[in-house]
Formats: sequence, structure tokens, C-alpha cells
Amino acid sequence: MKFSDFGKRFAGEIGIGELMDDLGDALVADPAPLMLGGGNPAHVPEVQAVFKKRMEDILSKDGEFERVIGNYDTPQGAKAFIGALAELFRGEFGWGIGPENIALTNGSQNAFFSLFNLFAGKFDGAIQKQILLPLAPEYIGYAEVGLEPDFFRSARPDIEILNDRLFKYRVDFDQLKVDDRVGAVCFSRPTNPTGNVVTDQEVSRLRDLANAQGVPLIIDNAYGTPFPNIIFSEAQPVWDENIILSLSLSKFGLPSLRTGIVIARKEIIRVVSRMTSVLSLAPGSLGPALAYDLVKSGEITRVSAETIQPFYRKKADRAVAQLRQEIGDDIPMRIHKPEGALFLWLWFEELPISSRELYQRLKQKGVLVVSGHYFFPGMQQDNWPHKNECIRVTYAQDDELVKKGLSQIATEIKEIYSEL
Ligand SMILES: Cc1ncc(COP(=O)(O)O)c(C=O)c1O
Repeated sequence: MKFSDFGKRFAGEIGIGELMDDLGDALVADPAPLMLGGGNPAHVPEVQAVFKKRMEDILSKDGEFERVIGNYDTPQGAKAFIGALAELFRGEFGWGIGPENIALTNGSQNAFFSLFNLFAGKFDGAIQKQILLPLAPEYIGYAEVGLEPDFFRSARPDIEILNDRLFKYRVDFDQLKVDDRVGAVCFSRPTNPTGNVVTDQEVSRLRDLANAQGVPLIIDNAYGTPFPNIIFSEAQPVWDENIILSLSLSKFGLPSLRTGIVIARKEIIRVVSRMTSVLSLAPGSLGPALAYDLVKSGEITRVSAETIQPFYRKKADRAVAQLRQEIGDDIPMRIHKPEGALFLWLWFEELPISSRELYQRLKQKGVLVVSGHYFFPGMQQDNWPHKNECIRVTYAQDDELVKKGLSQIATEIKEIYSEL
């Protein structure tokens, strides 16, 4: 069968596709592999109890269930929920936003498809603009979103070596060029895959650079404040008319309900809503229905800070301690400073095999991780060994499972280095 050029993009190997397939297969495999590969958030019991209760209320209130499942929302999304979100952000951060500044999408992944293709690609049929990712490694899910070739440009970061086997990526402003080929600048904060939090100073400089070029700064806040708040370092949330902020209910506990939230100036919201109408008529209604009370009351911020953040922080600390102990001093392993999100990013300097081979070896031993090479969309320099020396490990799952998986990784890594 012949596919169009557009179709061929999806018919080839796609990192995010491979990852989601692995995740799906793992859920039904027997014996199940130790799943340290996906981006699935944990099932946090307190949060699930809140949603269960809310679902029961919907079911028991006369006509409510029928209303929630039986009507399309507008392409912008559930109006009452959007109003509650605007109030929450005004109250929490003092941002001057109203409902006209917010659109819902079917997951924030969907929002990135719309936003990236809105600001990069061909302009006036001629000039080709790119999305600049100022600091790679960056989220695998961006990689295939652009409809034009040569869609992303990403920059190699500075690496700051820290104590206790840690390191941190920093934006290398000396190399970063926001020129007239850049259509928007985007980063995730906290970053998937590394757990990095781009610092307030870095955000401020990136904002200045984007403003000087007259292009938007897109901040992917899938793990950030005020929800789900899986962030362990100090970071000031920012928004203004030149910033597009993307949020999601997924990591708060509703990944299956596909609810993304875009905050932007109203012209952008209007176009994103139009794009939703073309791509899927309307965003799903169930996520907003389940989360409405939490947002309206502001409880979503409290639950995020008091339940979700400590839940993941404990897991991160435990995983780091175990790796430090089990890997031993002879192996040149470093861990990116865990500042948020669900992952540890492990760097094995001068790894004798590629990270892709390491992924395969671990898969054979029954542990799924993600090879780090996927996370450099738009990076031209193929000669940077670092790209093939890292893996992403999720610590969000059950503690026993994570412990076994990390032990298996430690054993395999020691074997690989001993084969030298
Ligand atoms: C950084 C980042 N952005 C966006 C997404 C997309 O999430 P969703 O489409 O579930 O909102 C993810 C999912 O893992 C992510 O890690």
C-alpha cells in the first residue's frame, strides 16, 4: 500500500509510538516485565479516592451522568471548568487572565500538535520556521509532531557536575541563537526525561530572547505548579501575553481522560479551539467534570502540594539512594539532579555499548527503560557521545517493582563494564 508523505511520517519508526506500544504490551504481558519505561503516573490512593467519590456524585445526582456523557462541549472546552481555572490562576498567581485565555484539548500532547504547527513550518508559502528547544534532552513526544521537515532545532546544554554523583543541565546561552528562523521557543519544566527544572533566571533570559524576536515562549507545565506540582525545587511560575503555558490533568491522576489546558492570549486560544473543532470536534467532557470541584474550591493546589508532591519525592529519594548504593564507585554513572517529573535520567559516561543496545539487553532481562537517544529532537550534532550514553528510568510505579528493576539495571551495568 502506498502512503502519502504525511502518512509515511507515521508508518516509519517513531520513538513515542515504540514507547507507547511497549507500555501497552507490558500491561498485558505474562510474566509482566518490570515497567520502568513509561510515563504513566502512579495510582495515588488519596487522589483516586477523590475522583471515585466525585464519580459517585455524578452517578447519583439526577440527570448529571446523562449530561456529562451525552453532550459535546464547545471546541474551547467545558465553560464552567474553564471559568474555574481562570479564577484559580488569578487567585494563585495574580495573572490577568479570563476564560478567553484558556482552551482545553484532548491531552496536552494534542495541544502541542496544534501549537507547534501554528508557529513553525512554512510562512507565506516560503520562509521555513522552526521550534527552538533551548535545552535538549527534551520530551520525546515533541519529536514527530511537526508536519514539515527540519521542524526542530535544539541546543546542546552545559553540563554542571555536582556532588554525590549528580549533574545538572544548564542552557548554554553562548551557543543559543534565537534568529528569524525561530517561530517559537519551547521547553518542559520540569523536563521529561531528565527531571531538570529550568531555573528562574534561565526562564527570564529565554523570555527576553523570545520577546526580542517577537515569538512566543511555550512552557510545558505538565508536571509543574499549581498541579500536579511534581517539582522538588523552587521555581516561579510565569505567564504573560507572550507566553503560552500548557498544563494537563494527566499527571494529577487522569491520564486516560485526556485533558490538556492551554493558557495564552485570546487570539491564540481562538485558533487552538478552531483546530480542536477540526481535529476532534470538542475536547472530552469527563476530565473537566471530575476535576471541576477540585479546581473551583482550590483543593487541586492543596492536594498537589500535600499529597502528590511528597508521594513522588519520596520515590525519587528512594530510587537515588538505591542506585548510589548498588552501582558502586567503579562505574562512571551520574544521575541528573532529580528536581521533578517521574524520572531519573542516568548517564553512563563512556558506556561501551549504545543506550539503545542497553535498552535491548535490559528488555531481555525483563526490565523496560527508555533509551536516551530518543530525547534529542532537532539536535544536528550527531557526534556527541552523550546522546547514546543515557537512559530514562521511571520511579512512579510500585516501590517493590521499582526496587527490583533498579537492582536488575545495576547488575546489568556492572556486567557490561566488567566485559571491557
Ligand atoms: C513533558 C510532557 N509534556 C506533555 C505530555 C503529554 O501529556 P498529556 O497528553 O497526557 O497531557 C507529557 C506526557 O508524558 C509530558 O511528559
